[in-house]
Amino acid sequence: MTIKLGVLISGSGTNLQAIIDAIAAGTLDASVQIVIASKPEAYGLVRAREALIPTMNMTREAYAEPDLADAVIAMAMRNHDVDYVVMAGYMRKVGANILDAFPTRVINIHPALLPSFVGAHAMQDAWNHGVKVSGITVHFANAEYDRGPIIAQEPVRIEPGMSFEDFEAAMHKVEHKLYPQVLQWIAEDRVRVTVNDAGRSVVQVLS
Ligand code: GRF
Repeated sequence: MTIKLGVLISGSGTNLQAIIDAIAAGTLDASVQIVIASKPEAYGLVRAREALIPTMNMTREAYAEPDLADAVIAMAMRNHDVDYVVMAGYMRKVGANILDAFPTRVINIHPALLPSFVGAHAMQDAWNHGVKVSGITVHFANAEYDRGPIIAQEPVRIEPGMSFEDFEAAMHKVEHKLYPQVLQWIAEDRVRVTVNDAGRSVVQVLS
C-alpha cells in the first residue's frame, strides 16, 4: 500500500531528503504530499520544492497560539490527503489538534535511545554524559513528549578517539537508513500497537 506522508521539519531536512530518495529509489512505497516547516528559513523547504512537493511555512507569529497553529497544520495535512504525519527534525511539540486528527499516525525520530536523553539536545546530552552507546529511536508521538510507543531503535557505539562530529555523522547515517525503513514497515502494514502486561502501549513489528 502506498502511504501518503505529511512531513514536519524545522531545519536542514536531511531526514526528509532520505525519505524523498528512498521513494525515488523504489525502496519506500510512499508519497510526500506536503512539507510543513516551523520556520520559513528551514533548508528542508528548498529540498521539498526541488522534489516538487507542496510546502507550507509557519512563522513565529503563527505559533503565538500553539493550539491554533496545530489546527492549521492538521487542516493542511487533511487537505493534502495525508495518512501519516512524519516529524523529521521538527522542533515544536505537536499538540492535541494534530494528535487527535491522526491517532497513532504521528511518527517522530529522536537522536538518542529513548527513554534516555529526551528533549531538544539529546545528542549533545548523551555525548556530555559520556555514554558509550547511543543511537536512534523512531516512535509514535503521543501527548507525553518523547515517550510514545517505540517502533525501532538502532544503536551507535561511541568508539575511543571519536570526536563529537564523528559521533554526529554516525548518528545521521543511521537515521537516514532507519527512518525510510520504518516507514516502509508501515506501508507493508507490519506495525501494530498493543498493550503489554505492564499496561503500556508498545509496538510489535510483524515479520
Ligand atoms: C535529526 O538529528 C533528528 O533526529 C532530530 O533533529 C535532526 C534533524 O535533522 N530530531 P534534519 O533536519 O533531518 O537534517
